[in-house]
Amino acid sequence: MNQQEIILQLENYVRNLHQGDSSGHDWHHIDRVRNLAVHIAKKENANQFIVECAALVHDVIDDKLHDDLEAQKIQLESILNELLNSNEVVKAILYIVENISYKGGNGVIPTSLEGKIVQDADRLDAIGAIGVARTFAYGGKKGRSMFNPEFKIRDNMTIEEYRSDKSSSLHHFYEKILKLKDLMNTKTALEMAEERHLFVEKFIDEFMKEWNFKI
Ligand code: NI
Repeated sequence: MNQQEIILQLENYVRNLHQGDSSGHDWHHIDRVRNLAVHIAKKENANQFIVECAALVHDVIDDKLHDDLEAQKIQLESILNELLNSNEVVKAILYIVENISYKGGNGVIPTSLEGKIVQDADRLDAIGAIGVARTFAYGGKKGRSMFNPEFKIRDNMTIEEYRSDKSSSLHHFYEKILKLKDLMNTKTALEMAEERHLFVEKFIDEFMKEWNFKI
């Protein structure tokens, strides 16, 4: 199987897996992250094939989306082993998938350039206009309100606290989204993040202005 066919197989696998998702992690998120990741990989001279494969499967083992992570991992591993005849490449992809998550600020920076790039791409899709839309989609799915002025903005959370519901979508901007720009690993991603970050700040300003309108 050539590389293009492998990519196509992975696309079909994740298209199916993320079908019906309304939390901001649907196929289109995967596709955007793939496009961002390949773009960054070209600029940063990384292994494009590993980056593209890893970007496509980057949300397959994620505790936000799946209950049985061990089952997801076994399934992904067997699909990758079936499609790829290189143990090295399978290992590199699995490593990326397991090490790019934010985890409420408790995540790690992947050691490989390809991992850094997929992490950047996933985070770029969490900021900007798409990031704003995804924040509210995810919050709605989790039963959070758009904004609750009674909640405090939390810092230094454990992953359990981070995933709990004592937050609103607007708080999520401060607890995660606005921190992402400074966490970009590559120069290419940082440049793209700057514009998206400004947009989020502008959105919050406008949101608060409308929220606080009084007669
Ligand atoms: Ni993602």
